[in-house]
Amino acid sequence: MTGTNSGQMKLGAFLMAGGHHIAAWRHPDAIANAGVNIDHFIELARMAEAAKFDMVFVEDAAAIRERDPDLASQGARSTMFEPLSLLAALAVNTSHIGLVATASTTYNEPYGLARAFASLDQLSGGRSGWNLVTSASELEAENFVSSGLRPHAQRYERAEEFAGAAAALWDGVDSDAHTISDGVYADPAKLHPVDHHGKHFTLTGILDSQRSPQGRPIMVQAGASEAGKNLAARTADVVFTAAQTIEEAQAYYADLKSRMPAFGRKPDDLKILPGISPIVANSQSEARAKYEALQDLIPDEVGVALLASYLSIKDLSQYPLDGPLPEMPATDGIQSRQQLIVDQARRENLNIRQSARKFAGARGHWQLIGTPMQIADRLEERFLAKAADGFNIMGAYFPGALKDFIDLVLPELRRRGLFRTEYEGKTLRGNLGLSIPERAV
Ligand SMILES: Cc1cc2nc3c(=O)[nH]c(=O)nc-3n(C[C@H](O)[C@H](O)[C@H](O)COP(=O)(O)O)c2cc1C
Repeated sequence: MTGTNSGQMKLGAFLMAGGHHIAAWRHPDAIANAGVNIDHFIELARMAEAAKFDMVFVEDAAAIRERDPDLASQGARSTMFEPLSLLAALAVNTSHIGLVATASTTYNEPYGLARAFASLDQLSGGRSGWNLVTSASELEAENFVSSGLRPHAQRYERAEEFAGAAAALWDGVDSDAHTISDGVYADPAKLHPVDHHGKHFTLTGILDSQRSPQGRPIMVQAGASEAGKNLAARTADVVFTAAQTIEEAQAYYADLKSRMPAFGRKPDDLKILPGISPIVANSQSEARAKYEALQDLIPDEVGVALLASYLSIKDLSQYPLDGPLPEMPATDGIQSRQQLIVDQARRENLNIRQSARKFAGARGHWQLIGTPMQIADRLEERFLAKAADGFNIMGAYFPGALKDFIDLVLPELRRRGLFRTEYEGKTLRGNLGLSIPERAV
């Protein structure tokens, strides 16, 4: 399967309640209770599937997202389906599109998660993916451990062992183990109990499932630290990232891919999809007006509180909003996003209010405002410049912004031969053009 569709972009649709823009829920066309509205998600998944996207992606934090009262009162992100249950519902309402759910290695155990993703793979005919995260939020830590957020290094040490144990469980069942013929249901010689005795986990079982139709669920990651990039280079099939400039995106791409040979992998075994938030219209001025209409919906205090939460500054509003970002200690949260905000503020000479307003659109991901031609040009440029293998499309508000991208930008990408017109395979792995990994056990 490898290489059947190389030369074309891979596309994810990053779903998020009413949209990725912090004020999306206040948009006149938004669905106010989108986070817990199953019909809304079915519509988005079907729309992305009709457009031949590789996957839909659902992020997660096992906690309410907003502690700050300014954010909490405006927090459309404070209600959301748990991703694996949501994707199980989407599995039976779609037939081709990949279904990627986020789940944490810090607050789960390998058997439970490996089983849940194997189950989603069976439900969907081989379309499941796991966005493996180590959970950087203190709000999540408060729901699980009394000692608070575990240090970054400890979280990744556990994640490394977790990923190995999950792979061993998926590989413990041969693809021809369940013959279900001649009075034999499963051939015991083709079931391989896991024998894992590590620092964090002990397990000795076999998964109560058949082999995944795609060998193993697709592994997704978004690590940006040294530990995160090494784990991704060793185990990930797809990586999400946030980058503003083409240089940043190229540097991340080259860095991550150059780590792969040390783990016996080829650079093409991993697809890097930076997040982008496109706001598209038939003229530049119309696109700009759409963007400004969204920006006008952001109360300053909400934008500043969101920025503060990513900078790990308790109260950013104590600083003058027209002044520069203050000095800040390194965070134990998402270090790369803190750096991205600081770099962007320096590069574009932004004060706190301006930084906050920019960040509120797509939380540090690349925002592209323009005509279909302009947006296709920029995407093509990054794709050809080895800054991306495709993109994770983050609609500013749903369904409108995703629909605009599909209706206006995709035809232009297709005209250039940069995106598929039909699915190549039946599984997510097949559509990504990736081969089934060697057995880990
Ligand atoms: C597109 C994208 C989506 C992400 N989704 C989640 C998520 O759902 N849950 C989460 O805890 N972290 C999420 N993250 C954060 C990453 O998992 C990771 O913690 C972050 O990029 C920093 O990398 P590091 O932990 O290696 O420092 C996401 C990151 C990106 C770029």
